[in-house]
Amino acid sequence: MSNVKTELLNKIQDKSAVVGIVGLGYVGLPLAVEFAKAGYRTIGFDVQSKKVDSVNAGQNYIGDIVGDTLKKVVESGTLSATSDFSFIEGVDAVAIAVPTPLDKYQQPDISYVKGSTESVAKYMHKGMVVILESTTYPGTTEELLKPILEASGLKCGEDFYLAFSPERVDPGNKQYKTKNTPKVVGGIGKDGTEVAAALYRNVLEGGVYEVSSPAVAEMEKLLENTYRNINIGLANEMAIICNRMGINVWDVIDAAKTKPYGFQAFYPGPGLGGHCIPLDPF
Ligand SMILES: NC(=O)c1ccc[n+]([C@@H]2O[C@H](COP(=O)([O-])OP(=O)(O)OC[C@H]3O[C@@H](n4cnc5c(N)ncnc54)[C@H](O)[C@@H]3O)[C@@H](O)[C@H]2O)c1
Repeated sequence: MSNVKTELLNKIQDKSAVVGIVGLGYVGLPLAVEFAKAGYRTIGFDVQSKKVDSVNAGQNYIGDIVGDTLKKVVESGTLSATSDFSFIEGVDAVAIAVPTPLDKYQQPDISYVKGSTESVAKYMHKGMVVILESTTYPGTTEELLKPILEASGLKCGEDFYLAFSPERVDPGNKQYKTKNTPKVVGGIGKDGTEVAAALYRNVLEGGVYEVSSPAVAEMEKLLENTYRNINIGLANEMAIICNRMGINVWDVIDAAKTKPYGFQAFYPGPGLGGHCIPLDPF
């Protein structure tokens, strides 16, 4: 085993690794809180100074996801936030959770991912693991992030490790939170997967599922969200047809869901909403 990998794994295991979270939104802030709660010194980074100030004051700005725990981990000194990217010099693991919207042509706007990765590259050092969590098209980690990070002069798989791990947080979900939702991890090379998976295993309780490459992890996230997009549309179209035929669509779905395999119930509603489902399938 290479020294770089052994040292990093040791730091992850004994929790002396410092974790950096880039982007303190719906995904990044709960993740930062989980790392801090697990005992890792965690530094959150955001370009919005208002969010940085709120975190440092222990003020939660994303509703039910973080709760009182934010205040506790800030007061104990385990979590802090900054707008100064040079914090990367002192961290061992970085998770990037910045926005990936669509542009006006429905193409992925990758500028936030690119910009934040370039900033990481500027301050990175040997012995780090970088993990992209933003939802994105298959190939982003290997084709976009790897060359940007290697421009630092460090080599992926030897000097640092790189992986993709999609975020599945479902804001408002009472049962499944960041902590207990299974995590999929795909690294560049087996070592990349192993290091990234070790980090999440030490923090999360939903289990970590390793896949063979970042592209598999990137694509499985799109499959999840496309599946929901199509099935929500199907439930709504079924409601329109049932309405025209004088049939109660709720009775239809209740009957269909008695089938123990091959069917998952989706229900009619106001249509697609939220941050992800209306965007990612495109
Ligand atoms: N919100 C969800 O429920 C959810 C669920 C799963 C996956 N995702 C995905 O996770 C990613 C992040 O989503 P989100 O909902 O947390 O977004 P968000 O807008 O809530 O938060 C993103 C944060 O990144 C910051 N940011 C932008 N550019 C930056 C930069 N260069 N450096 C540092 N910070 C920067 C923004 O200021 C913002 O605070 C997206 O790819 C999204 O598709 C979101």
